[in-house]
Amino acid sequence: MSKQSADASEGAQRKIYGAYDDPGTPEEMSRRSFMANATLAIGGIVGLTLAIPIVGSLLPVASDATGNWAPLTADELAQLQKATEQPVKLTFTLKSQDSYLPMQASPEYVWGIKVDDEAKFKQARPDIYGPGTKPLPYNAVNMDFVIFSPICPHLGCRFEWQQAASKFHCPCHGSVFSFDGEHLAGPAPRGLDPLPFREQSGVAQIMWIRYKASVPDRIVISYQS
Ligand code: FES
Repeated sequence: MSKQSADASEGAQRKIYGAYDDPGTPEEMSRRSFMANATLAIGGIVGLTLAIPIVGSLLPVASDATGNWAPLTADELAQLQKATEQPVKLTFTLKSQDSYLPMQASPEYVWGIKVDDEAKFKQARPDIYGPGTKPLPYNAVNMDFVIFSPICPHLGCRFEWQQAASKFHCPCHGSVFSFDGEHLAGPAPRGLDPLPFREQSGVAQIMWIRYKASVPDRIVISYQS
């Protein structure tokens, strides 16, 4: 490259770099800073709009939230009323809604027992009524019935009633529970979990609650299946 063309190229480069260093007129500077601030503000609003629902959906269910009451059919209530020494499996439709998703309806079941002697039931359940236990925020015994969640408090399997042994038995790790839901054997840390049960305008209703597994206390983790 000749000296002349090298000088010309160096001059052009200085001009380009100079343009970057030049802050411009005061009007240009204030227009630039206005555009920068406006871009930041719009970005912030868009970010917040997206973040609020995402963060909301990730938050755990508030501890004072309550679930939906699900009605039992008249047949199921009649079945429960006839029950004496055998628990009754009650099926119902559980309706639940998760954040922004539409309402979901799924078939569920619980176990119901008839309790003729409430004092005896309370004696059999030190994990609910014993000294030092946190009281349930609802009565376990209602209208002479107790409704149990079908979820084993050990690791969440579904237990079954074994008629021959007159016990509830969990097939996963062998936890055994009495008719009253008392923990008799196996690794479960507490007895079966009673669920809220009530009568409203002649219709029996139950509320589904999922309690934390593997801990002695009943800690609500969800009102959904
Ligand atoms: S889940 Fe029931 S005993 Fe382990």
